[in-house]
Amino acid sequence: MKITELKLRNFRNYETLTIRPAEGMNFLAGSNAQGKTNLLESLVYLSLTRSHRISNERKLIRENCDYAVISASVEDQGRIKELRAVIHPQGKTLSVQKNPVKKSSDFIGLLNVVLFAPDDLYVFNDQPRERRRIINQEITKISQKYLFSLNRYQNLLKDRNILLKKESPDLRFLDTLDEEMASCEKEIISYRRDFITSVNEKMKDLYRILSDSDLDASLKYQCCIQDAECTFENILEMHRNSREKDLEHRVTSFGIHREDMIFALNDVNVINTASQGQKRMVMLAFKMALLEYIESKTGKRPVLLLDDVLSELDLKRQRKLIEMIRNNYQCLITATEIPSFIRKDDIRIFMIEKGQAGCPGGTE
Ligand SMILES: Nc1ncnc2c1ncn2[C@@H]1O[C@H](COP(=O)(O)OP(=O)(O)O)[C@@H](O)[C@H]1O
Ligand SMILES: [Mg+2]
Repeated sequence: MKITELKLRNFRNYETLTIRPAEGMNFLAGSNAQGKTNLLESLVYLSLTRSHRISNERKLIRENCDYAVISASVEDQGRIKELRAVIHPQGKTLSVQKNPVKKSSDFIGLLNVVLFAPDDLYVFNDQPRERRRIINQEITKISQKYLFSLNRYQNLLKDRNILLKKESPDLRFLDTLDEEMASCEKEIISYRRDFITSVNEKMKDLYRILSDSDLDASLKYQCCIQDAECTFENILEMHRNSREKDLEHRVTSFGIHREDMIFALNDVNVINTASQGQKRMVMLAFKMALLEYIESKTGKRPVLLLDDVLSELDLKRQRKLIEMIRNNYQCLITATEIPSFIRKDDIRIFMIEKGQAGCPGGTE
């Protein structure tokens, strides 16, 4: 899929903006605090119906304005769709081809982007919840069914924890919740397992090519149940076995809400020994593997967004990365300066300054 046009109105520091990105590489160039990341954020919003930076959506609306509008024309297998999100103080209104879309799940996936930003590296040291958030976010891009099971599980878990906090919990209700949770979990685990396996297969080679090293980059799924035991009955039994402890501690101790995903180099968690440079390349290989994962599941190539990434890589790695993406993906790359080795006639440049985009020499 390709973004053929992006329009913003009162989004962050943009009053109005219209850009028409090229099919291949696009550079958003400019000094700091001009609106480069804001522009990428608007595309993430259309992809996920939320920002990757903040949860308070009012901050996305330009100061002193009532609402913000993001709209994009996305070409997908020869057909152009217009996606639109209006963000207002009461929430958001989504539409496709001017038809309102009530559920976010019907909107997510119409535009698929994969973003790599320097802050992504925090996830290695963060809480497991943040790594699960990544798994959930990526699988949601390819499966509505996964999102449905996950939402359902989260509601059941909430009910179960409320029940456990009661003076004398209704054990028959607990039975029902356990059964329903186990059925969601079986589904969720199977998606997560497939996600980790597919991404792993690709990540190893990508890491070697990008970092020019023979270390093995991989993801380790810390599943709540052993591989061979992942049946409805076994999951249910695990819930039943932990019931006594759960009643005592008044919280659900077993389940997919306790899982984790470890990023490793030669089987060692990157937080233990990897250098900052190695961590960056592991994350980059992961993001490139995500592009291939999404394409293999949906048949559509996502758009790649790189935020301030090139300046963090040495020249050799910059070249490798550009080599890998040019001619393969539509990408929007922010940078304060465009690397000199990139041929200007290969790319489209947008100069971003104070919430405005200009095209030097009329490259558009
Ligand atoms: N809601 C908003 N209204 C007006 N300006 C905003 C809003 N949110 C952020 N900004 C401005 O956007 C600028 C930062 O943009 P950003 O895209 O992060 O910069 P960069 O080009 O460095 O990536 C800051 O000047 C900030 O004040
Ligand atoms: Mg920025």
